[in-house]
Amino acid sequence: MAVSLGLEDVFIKYTGLTFIDGNEGILRYRGYDINDLVEHTSFEEVCYLMIYGELPKAQELDTFKKAIKEHYALPDHVFELIRDLPRDLDTLTMMETAYASLSSGDYKWEKENDRKQVPVILGENIGIISNIYRHKMGKELKNPDPKYDYAEAFLRNCFDKADPVRINAMNSALVIYVDHEVPASTTAALVASSTLSDMYSCITAAIAALKGPLHGGAAEAAYKQLLDIKTVDNVQTWFDNNIKGGNKRLMGFGHRVYKTYDPRMKIFKRIAESMGKTEEQKNLFEIAKKLEDLGVKEFGSKGIYPNTDYYSGIVFNEIGFPIYMFTTLFGFSRVLGWLAHITEYVEEEERLIRPRAIYTGPGKRDFVKISER
Ligand code: CMC
Repeated sequence: MAVSLGLEDVFIKYTGLTFIDGNEGILRYRGYDINDLVEHTSFEEVCYLMIYGELPKAQELDTFKKAIKEHYALPDHVFELIRDLPRDLDTLTMMETAYASLSSGDYKWEKENDRKQVPVILGENIGIISNIYRHKMGKELKNPDPKYDYAEAFLRNCFDKADPVRINAMNSALVIYVDHEVPASTTAALVASSTLSDMYSCITAAIAALKGPLHGGAAEAAYKQLLDIKTVDNVQTWFDNNIKGGNKRLMGFGHRVYKTYDPRMKIFKRIAESMGKTEEQKNLFEIAKKLEDLGVKEFGSKGIYPNTDYYSGIVFNEIGFPIYMFTTLFGFSRVLGWLAHITEYVEEEERLIRPRAIYTGPGKRDFVKISER
């Protein structure tokens, strides 16, 4: 009997959602290459594709968008809850709290019912994340404007304005982060769904797993590395002291599945370069490029390459977000991937996920009363 630590190479479900070839650096959603989807589709189209299996026709997309927009307005209690949270709380904890508060604790899983829940949750998702940002910034909370589609409505509700370049970048980030098969957060959602827990509770479980620096938190950590390095001239010394000599991990590098360049990282790199306008943004990008070269030289032979989180922080910053929002923005998009996986699992192959552990503790012992220990 052997334990697969980290469940490495354990397959926990069949899926028609996301295909990854970690050796070739290929990522497809329902057969469509990630590059084509980022180039040609809106987030809503990709959500439809993931949930219904096909890209929508114009009329279908229109109906789907309308259904999402009907739920842009948050229930009052969620507004009040976010408003009452301490402003210094981390944004993922706020997201967890908001999602947990929407749970009924009771859900009837049924194909028809499940499909109807998706636009509801996607609509609420915009209000939750944008108002977490507004609350952190000390702004008055408000509902997204249903005049606008997803990426634009979100940016407008965060910043009270939006321009085409930022909307496009936000849409690309949303498409890139939609799904990635069964990483830790999706697995956490699946475990919860396998008990037939409700959708909001499954999302709450996923957010808890997303938080850590080895998963969603990597974008923040990778970006902080660049800030720490400060100038391009410092890259080599920083790398020698911290990574080669200091035994720290290079954040934004390495992946359980990819053993080559993560295709998502290449897209973020392109966007980061094209959007960088200020001296500070250009400087960070140059630091990142040089650090990437050193990292690939050092670790490439071990199959450790930059992952999606390596440049995404630069893009989020160029859109206008502070560091504390990065992981939450990842979660903002991944909500759909979690929903797609849990519905697929429950509808097609639901079985309680209940693994075993190999016991390594002491054998049978005689009980000793507290007064005699
Ligand atoms: N920097 C330096 N060495 C590394 C790194 C790294 N970023 N990643 C892996 N290694 C080394 C590790 O030290 C170990 O070496 P050795 O065999 O000599 O002890 C070997 O590679 C295997 O590492 P592991 O942790 O057993 O491998 P894993 O498959 O569990 O690692 C990972 C996956 C993502 C946890 C890891 O690469 C890592 O910690 N990366 C940094 C954090 C990061 O960027 N995470 C984002 C992942 S992608 C987005 C997402 O899924 O959220």
